[in-house]
Amino acid sequence: MQVTRSTFDDVMVPNYNPAQMVPVRGEGSRVWDQEGNEYIDFAGGIAVNVLGHCHPELVSVLQEQGNKLWHLSNVFTNEPAIRLAKKLCDATFADKVYFANSGAEANEAALKLARRFAIDHHNESKDQIIAFKQGFHGRTFFTVTVGGQPAYSDGFGPKPGGIEHCEYNNLEMLASMMSERTCAIMMEPLQGEGGIIVPDPAFVRGVRELCDKHNALLIFDEVQSGVGRTGYLFAYMDVDVTPDILTSAKSLGGGFPIGAMLTTDAIASSLKPGTHGSTYGGNPLACAVAERVLDVINQPEVFAGVLKKEALYREILGAINEKYHVFSEIRGKGMLLGCALNEKYAGRARDFMVAANEQRLMCLIAGMNVIRFAPSLVIPDEDIIEGLARFEKAVASVVAG
Ligand SMILES: Cc1ncc(COP(=O)(O)O)c(C=O)c1O
Repeated sequence: MQVTRSTFDDVMVPNYNPAQMVPVRGEGSRVWDQEGNEYIDFAGGIAVNVLGHCHPELVSVLQEQGNKLWHLSNVFTNEPAIRLAKKLCDATFADKVYFANSGAEANEAALKLARRFAIDHHNESKDQIIAFKQGFHGRTFFTVTVGGQPAYSDGFGPKPGGIEHCEYNNLEMLASMMSERTCAIMMEPLQGEGGIIVPDPAFVRGVRELCDKHNALLIFDEVQSGVGRTGYLFAYMDVDVTPDILTSAKSLGGGFPIGAMLTTDAIASSLKPGTHGSTYGGNPLACAVAERVLDVINQPEVFAGVLKKEALYREILGAINEKYHVFSEIRGKGMLLGCALNEKYAGRARDFMVAANEQRLMCLIAGMNVIRFAPSLVIPDEDIIEGLARFEKAVASVVAG
């Protein structure tokens, strides 16, 4: 059956408005569309394809597991899930892992766990969840309400309650909002969707101290920042602030859907049998792929490579900006970078993204003012150089109007 982009409009619910070209094949950081046009991929499936497209190690583990065992449900466990959980615990602060299928589901589990823990150890009125303006945690009704953009949760009727929002990086405001009623703080240790905002390390440390003071749990949403993206296995390791609960997804599966919630023994014990679950969570195919992703990524030379590639991006983007004067700042960490537009180009991030696509470069935006790059962590330097040459042409075309 021949399908095209216009078939999409005929048969898909209109909540997305994808690019006009339809990708059909990918290899490393290159992608080809139905017409055979070749693109360089700086979008990485929105910070997912951490080893690029069709990485041989991931293809081989998927084929291997595909010939063994696909699915069981949680009525039975399976070896890939147990091994992945063990490796995640060994590599982080965590003692226990819960598997889900997406970032939103991992966060949903984290929020439910925090509420249940407060009821188990404190009282029913300890239900306040504080999150941050411009934060993003997923699209289930609980997580989207915890997210800091009301436009995403408005218009669906009554919202889950007990949720409040504080300004990111504003410790004084957070201190004034917290009390013994505070159940948990949910935050991204680097805001992604909200505009690639790196918090002040003193702020992150202060959040931890306030949580300790008020017996509140600290939940780090590392769905976008985790699994090597910032040059550390998880961003919390860079700021040296340990959360009580951490969520991961996106890069964890390298393109295969999986999410995970990590926590300590003491907190995990509140998710007693029957309290929460998912048919697919811990699916052997997903866990086998994620295990291999973790094996490949969790290596000092991969993290060192991420920081080197960041320097290359920054150097070339700086040179582009000297020529065209479009950015106020290049920010972010590792392979999660944002070019913040200056006042002259305010609100026009989408124009740059569309122009880049015309130059056969896939990239992202983070809000109206930031062009975002979230490529593979092992993108070859020549693809960075070629991709940024295409980006420069896109910038030139927007500047020329
Ligand atoms: C920080 C963060 N949390 C949660 C999510 C939601 O993840 P998913 O789309 O897999 O549900 C995202 C997705 O962009 C994210 O960036």
